[in-house]
Amino acid sequence: MQSNSRSITTNQHGPHDELSRRVERGLTHPLRKPVAEHTRQAFAHAEAWLKLHRAPLILDAGCGVGLSTRRLALEHPDHAVIGVDRSADRLAREHGEPPGNSLLVRADLVDFWRLALAAGWKPRKHYLLYPNPYPKAAHLKMRWHGHPVFPAIVALGGRLEVRSNWRLYLEEFALAVGQASGQRPEVIEHHPAGECLTPFEAKYLSSDQALWKLVTDLPHRPELLPGLNDIR
Ligand SMILES: C[S@@+](CC[C@H](N)C(=O)[O-])C[C@H]1O[C@@H](n2cnc3c(N)ncnc32)[C@H](O)[C@@H]1O
Repeated sequence: MQSNSRSITTNQHGPHDELSRRVERGLTHPLRKPVAEHTRQAFAHAEAWLKLHRAPLILDAGCGVGLSTRRLALEHPDHAVIGVDRSADRLAREHGEPPGNSLLVRADLVDFWRLALAAGWKPRKHYLLYPNPYPKAAHLKMRWHGHPVFPAIVALGGRLEVRSNWRLYLEEFALAVGQASGQRPEVIEHHPAGECLTPFEAKYLSSDQALWKLVTDLPHRPELLPGLNDIR
């Protein structure tokens, strides 16, 4: 099916001038935002579920309607897959009962990632599939790599895979990962083999937009997030 999702337009001509300063700030200044009670409860539920499953974790961060969570769970029956999204509306859309080795959680990732790090979670794989791009230069802080929670994403470690239809988003993300971890991943074009993993992927593909990804293996380094001890 052909769709006509518009490609990204931005007033940036290259990586944002403030990116390195934002990343440096995240690495050196604790994020003071208190953890919301609803995410604390959602995390406690996810933690109990994960303990029962005793399998390597795959985190699907910003899973939307959770199709990718379901597909990853079917592809990896020996893993426990947790999809997290803040939108109750998206999570509630009917896409069938999730496989038994998957869990959909409604939570704010800004809090969930920090709780996961504080609890010692070490995802084997960590997906960020088509995060909101926030393409205006003024919105750098809202992109995950410009957000103060960014060090937590890197600190969790594991195989991190980020996909986007906006190449610059990934180029910035790669620069930020390089700054935080010392290893800068490559951004490559993504050609889905067979079924698309997510609805956004399918939408962009059927609008003839190029898709991009970065994949990087990161060590678990909780010390990257300042103020981690104050979170639990
Ligand atoms: C563009 S959609 C992509 C959804 C899905 N990954 C896909 O590819 O179809 C981005 C998703 O990130 C979620 N999101 C954005 N900020 C979030 C946050 N702070 N905590 C949890 N989810 C968030 C949104 O609710 C939305 O479902």
